[in-house]
Amino acid sequence: MKITFSDPSYARTGALAVGVFDGPALTAAGKALDKKTGGALGRAIAASRFKGGKAQVLILLAPEGLKASRLLLFGLGKADEADDLVLQEAGGGIVANLATAGDKVANVLVERPPKCKLNLADCAANLAYGARLRSYRFDKYRTKEKEEDKPTLGTLNFMVKEPAAARRAFARLDSIAEGVCFTRDLVSEPANVLYPETLAREARRLGRYGVRVEVLDVNRMKQLGMGALLGVAQGSSHKPRVVTMQWNGAAKGARNKRPIAFIGKGVTFDTGGISIKPSGGMEDMKYDMAGAATVIGLMRSLARRKAKVNAVGIVGLVENMPSSTAQRPGDVVKSMSGQTIEVINTDAEGRLVLADVLCYCQKRFKPRLMIDLATLTGAIIVALGHEHAGLFSNDDKLAEQIGAAGKKVGETVWRLPLGEAYDEQINSPIADMKNVGSGRGGGSITAAQFLKRFVDDTPWAHLDIAGVAWAKKDAACVPKGGTGFGVRLLDRFVADNFE
Ligand code: BES
Ligand code: MN
Ligand code: ZN
Repeated sequence: MKITFSDPSYARTGALAVGVFDGPALTAAGKALDKKTGGALGRAIAASRFKGGKAQVLILLAPEGLKASRLLLFGLGKADEADDLVLQEAGGGIVANLATAGDKVANVLVERPPKCKLNLADCAANLAYGARLRSYRFDKYRTKEKEEDKPTLGTLNFMVKEPAAARRAFARLDSIAEGVCFTRDLVSEPANVLYPETLAREARRLGRYGVRVEVLDVNRMKQLGMGALLGVAQGSSHKPRVVTMQWNGAAKGARNKRPIAFIGKGVTFDTGGISIKPSGGMEDMKYDMAGAATVIGLMRSLARRKAKVNAVGIVGLVENMPSSTAQRPGDVVKSMSGQTIEVINTDAEGRLVLADVLCYCQKRFKPRLMIDLATLTGAIIVALGHEHAGLFSNDDKLAEQIGAAGKKVGETVWRLPLGEAYDEQINSPIADMKNVGSGRGGGSITAAQFLKRFVDDTPWAHLDIAGVAWAKKDAACVPKGGTGFGVRLLDRFVADNFE
């Protein structure tokens, strides 16, 4: 779907969309349209239950007095509460209602909500951003979709008094959307197509945007002593990879500043290994590389919008398989940090991968801070469902910055505790630690506690995204499937605190 901006005109064909505030209260453009149609808007509203609330819509077909094929009234909620998120969700709603309705072109009349902090161009840009995020589809493997089920909408045009300014404002948001959609593509790919080598190849493509990409192979990982990561990988015929992506965009004078680091779990498929998972729903484990995909998409967004920051992304890519070469429960591995780990459960593999990547990150890049993302535990879904990611941190300020950025972009996180008593649960009688807790409760916390043992005094945060990386139902700006959760959040975190 193409997104364009132009001057307002009522003379266009195709669908026409206009916002309505809670009440329902027509905007200036809405009132003008009501007049042009001989009061059809008012009559339609009176005949319906449309109140102008958020996500509400009312469609008038072939409205008298207009060239438009249909008129979509979209609710914006309370007039004095309309902000960037409300506009993004409205943009998403427009696409949800018009994408498959039949029209090839739709025009949106953009107005600035009277008390909105954004200027008109930013209002248009945010509507377009939401539309772009919602119009995402992963349909490359569908060869038999019926014509009538395919989207018809080819162009979504935003009519706004300052189209050039809106286009400029949208460019920045579009870079973020590009990263989000790239992440969604990677998360959605099946594991026979996307495995460590091919995922590393996707990451390499960031080279064209000015990101310095390096790929470590097995020999290099052996030299570095990454026994924890290699132990997970040894059951699969697909060889593991570690990929580093450096974006050095800091302004003059800060070019040599230590980077902020983003680390991702990239288990391209998690069978559980010898501690094999039940078969029901196992197909979901193709998205066990969502942490890595988020880091790759984020680096793409940062590079595309030329973020003024030094950032490094590192992803640990492995496939967790059972086989005659797989590691066994009870095996003891030596991590890059020198600490030994008794592998009680081969299905607690993500923490083993991250242990070595966290260690490598600190040794090589001496980052100012580290944030890791991982679909780490099913327990985080028990605790938080699909509404928040779990946040763990050794640094209150960092935790607050992440929480604030999440609220602003609508990707919310909830902080959970760390503490001595949890840490004790991963002591092993024969090695420095074991990879699962002894009790049954607090599984997400003991997992985070495990990661913490590989973090020195670097400010660090861990986001457990197992519950938010994949959606089973559509949301305003996120169609069901891979969500790309974390790209918008961390882009905002960077913009607000490091640029
Ligand atoms: N990849 C899973 C966690 C997961 C579960 C991600 C559901 C997405 C949706 C992880 O590797 C895992 O298997 N964790 C185990 C840990 C347990 C063995 C301590 C779990 O959550 O059951
Ligand atoms: Mn697992
Ligand atoms: Zn896993």
